[in-house]
Amino acid sequence: MFFRQLATKEATLSYLFGCGSCHVAVVVDPVLGDEDWFLEEAKKQDVNITHVIDTHVHADHYSGARALAERSGALYCLHESNAGRVNFEFEALRDKQHIVIGNVVVQVLHTPGHTLDSLCLTVTDKRRTNAPWFVLTGDTMFVGAIGRPDLAGKEREMAGQLFDSLHERLLTLPSELELYPGHTSGSVCGAGISGKPASTIGFEKRWNPMLSLDRDAFIEALTGEIPPRPAEMERMVAANLGN
Ligand SMILES: [Fe+2]
Repeated sequence: MFFRQLATKEATLSYLFGCGSCHVAVVVDPVLGDEDWFLEEAKKQDVNITHVIDTHVHADHYSGARALAERSGALYCLHESNAGRVNFEFEALRDKQHIVIGNVVVQVLHTPGHTLDSLCLTVTDKRRTNAPWFVLTGDTMFVGAIGRPDLAGKEREMAGQLFDSLHERLLTLPSELELYPGHTSGSVCGAGISGKPASTIGFEKRWNPMLSLDRDAFIEALTGEIPPRPAEMERMVAANLGN
């Protein structure tokens, strides 16, 4: 398999990976304006982009996913809970669904908390083994930090959901899994995010300060330090919903 991580605007990390031998690839969380980069990289790798996935409807940047999906003829994928919420057609992803990209298999994990529709994606390279090799954690979990509960007015409830998603879904993954988040330091999507763009489940389990807290302490800590809301947030959400 091949794998590219793009560090782009708003301290966002986007991903392009796939199967060179079957000439297919997937893009995760592209930012608007970066479409040419993805199309050029795909051309260099001699792959067709078949799926463009947003890990959630973003509130801190304009998503480039729909534009890129249109230009590359790929499916634009979001969690199924967005049906009726967004003003465009999309491929609805379900929890535990597998997306086959040649010899690469992406499995969808629904991990609500940062937002209700948040997804994490485990990725397996079947040429190596049938066990997942890495996980894209979107804004659910960062290196050294955790996503902010984004739903205004429901922060405590969402923080509780985030705790459950982390402990029941992400931290039960094998510790050797590499972890690739949706942001590095400088993002308003979480407090105390590291500048390092990758980690492992095991290292975060041991050293991420938010992961050693019990549920009540976690909710207190997370809702006590919510960073300021992104500038232009309403406009960005409206654009990303297709309004
Ligand atoms: Fe986000």
